Amino acid sequence: MRVTQHPVLRRFWYAVMPLQALDEGPQPFTLLGEKLVLWKMADGTPAAAQDRCCHRTAQLSKGWVEGDHIVCGYHGWRYDCSGACVKIPQLADDHKIPAGARVNAYRCQARFGYAWVALDEPLVPLIDTPEENDPAFRRIHQFDETWRTGALRLMENSFDTAHFAFVHKGTFGQFEQPKPEFFEIRETDYGFEAEVIVPINNPPESHRITGSTEPTTKRHFHNQWHLPFLRRLGLVYPSGIHHTIFTSATPIDDERIQIIQWLYRNDTEEQCPAALLNEWDTKVVAEDKVILESVDPEAPIDVALRLEQHMPSDRPGVIMRRRLLELLRAHGELPQARTATT
Ligand code: FES
Ligand SMILES: [Fe+2]
Repeated sequence: MRVTQHPVLRRFWYAVMPLQALDEGPQPFTLLGEKLVLWKMADGTPAAAQDRCCHRTAQLSKGWVEGDHIVCGYHGWRYDCSGACVKIPQLADDHKIPAGARVNAYRCQARFGYAWVALDEPLVPLIDTPEENDPAFRRIHQFDETWRTGALRLMENSFDTAHFAFVHKGTFGQFEQPKPEFFEIRETDYGFEAEVIVPINNPPESHRITGSTEPTTKRHFHNQWHLPFLRRLGLVYPSGIHHTIFTSATPIDDERIQIIQWLYRNDTEEQCPAALLNEWDTKVVAEDKVILESVDPEAPIDVALRLEQHMPSDRPGVIMRRRLLELLRAHGELPQARTATT
């Protein structure tokens, strides 16, 4: 799937960067091949526009912010969050700003500590989650980095329990146990949810994370896939610790994603410091990164998945492909005659 070739994918919200990054000034980001500039307005609200000044094409991300406006670093033209040029310093005071002096602006909002952008009219509202307003939970920022892989590749990996025993044998995976103890998947309007129980290794460095000192424990997942590239991993340990991870495979282009991940826990910093959680998850995620950067970034969605059909652990990836195909077809982006293979 070439994500940049499907305009319907522009109609979803994507997490693009931590809001904190905008404290340093305007920042560039490429979303679905579109070059953007993001900045923070005076009240802290993020804004997004095309990263190309309409005067002589300089990147606005090389400029600076004044109040609510972004200022081009070349000749000082100023733009508001609607993309309209509101000041041209070279014009006489009584000269009106020409009507064509504007850049494309994009929907942008703050949520969960990140700036989110939808390039075109969103098909569904930006996701919410009960943990965000529940005082029993704390939110921890985990990752914001670029990987050389496709967005669908990260999503299929996120719901694929079969790789634990192999890719994660150095952390929590049980090499002798390649099958989950329990696996059930149910499609929903937003994508699907999957309930999975997996026995895992529990080395001493993960004891405070799992809340157990036993050499093995279980992960009971209630996971959700939100079309097109967002994963909610709802994990409960026998210790009663809830560990909810959100992972956005934000598509930069056809070959790169920005992996943005945050976590909710119903314990305290004293019980399990954020630094420890991030250190452990960095180790786990590095195992995925090596594999995911070795696969073809383009995950096919319209070819026969004969091998994948046989294994329950590949069902999530098969369903994803069918749902993405349905989405594309519904918006006239694939010939109707082409048949799904799932
Ligand atoms: S190129 Fe931006 S003000 Fe001239
Ligand atoms: Fe993994």
